[in-house]
Amino acid sequence: SAAEKGGYEWFMLKEIAEQPQAVADTLLGRHGRDGLLQLDEMRLSDDELRNVDKIVAIACGTSYYAAMVAKYAIEHWTRIPVEVELASEFRYRDPILDKTTLVVTISQSGETADTIEAIRYARQQRARVLSICNTNGSTIPRESDAVIYTHAGPEVAVASTKGFLSQLVACYLLGLYLAQVKGVKYGDEIARIIADLEGVPAGIQRMLDDGDEIRKVARDLAGSRSILFLGRHVGYPVALEGALKLKELAYIHAEGFSAGELKHGPIAVIEEGLPVFVVVPPKGRDLLQKKIVSNIQEVRARGARTIVLVEDGDDDVVPYADHLIRLPRLPTLLQPLVATVPLQIFACEFAAQLGHDVDQPRNLAKSVTVE
Ligand code: G6P
Repeated sequence: SAAEKGGYEWFMLKEIAEQPQAVADTLLGRHGRDGLLQLDEMRLSDDELRNVDKIVAIACGTSYYAAMVAKYAIEHWTRIPVEVELASEFRYRDPILDKTTLVVTISQSGETADTIEAIRYARQQRARVLSICNTNGSTIPRESDAVIYTHAGPEVAVASTKGFLSQLVACYLLGLYLAQVKGVKYGDEIARIIADLEGVPAGIQRMLDDGDEIRKVARDLAGSRSILFLGRHVGYPVALEGALKLKELAYIHAEGFSAGELKHGPIAVIEEGLPVFVVVPPKGRDLLQKKIVSNIQEVRARGARTIVLVEDGDDDVVPYADHLIRLPRLPTLLQPLVATVPLQIFACEFAAQLGHDVDQPRNLAKSVTVE
């Protein structure tokens, strides 16, 4: 009913709007005044965690993209190698696991069949399993050694939104917690990241308040039959998520690519008028921003219509952007928390323009409980 949707036309819109709260709630109570993180259902001792020499992050769908982001963050902060794997592939390839492997599964529903089977397999191989989950008491947390609950509240729309952002937060918390347990010294970096996370709900709120711009882009592009998304580093999983949202809701061809792969194929499909979203990493020592700016020039020279997501104050892309979406400044690793939001709004508006049921897309289920 309309009341359940809190006045929004779709549950998805309501859930997109709840993201500042979902992120704040997932952070709430997890770090003390002393700056130390506490995770209540960690249930793995510091000694067990210090012995972890490999992490395998496993999930399906949108949750898999959270796992991809987790790899960048956890490896950077802890120096523990992280593999990322689709739950449906994991147990079919004879993975190398033992008691010093930490398997991290990520699931909004806690009932995804492939993820449950991955957990059972990992535990048979004596690996420890920690789950990031949004649903208390569901199968996945019950079968895991430890849990980090996301506190997004119930997610009703089939396409995940607030579930995803809260998963990202939980992944960051896990990475920072492991760094803390390992006694990694980064000067002030960890404290700064926590302070940056605290500011994220306001940044997401700004993306929501600025939503009209991206909704207008969606209306302009509503006739498109194909849309590409480019990103690098953690912007790459954001690109994949932007494309997945559009496939799920609008039933059109949409594909995310790593911008670094542009010349290895994707550039061949660029033609006059093809919309290309680009997530620009913050300027930094690694020069990724410069490289992606030249990618934007390359696709535009071939006729693409560019929709560029870029942080405040970066004007390098302005001459090559047909549409510019501004993002609040954040460290690169945290940028997905704000960059994903306009892509969600875009997919929702685009699908609504086509007359589709945004909350119940054809052929899809909220939770895939059969293999
Ligand atoms: C289905 C849903 C997606 C979700 C995926 C994984 O495909 O439609 O939105 O990302 O399952 O679900 P999970 O509950 O394990 O995160």
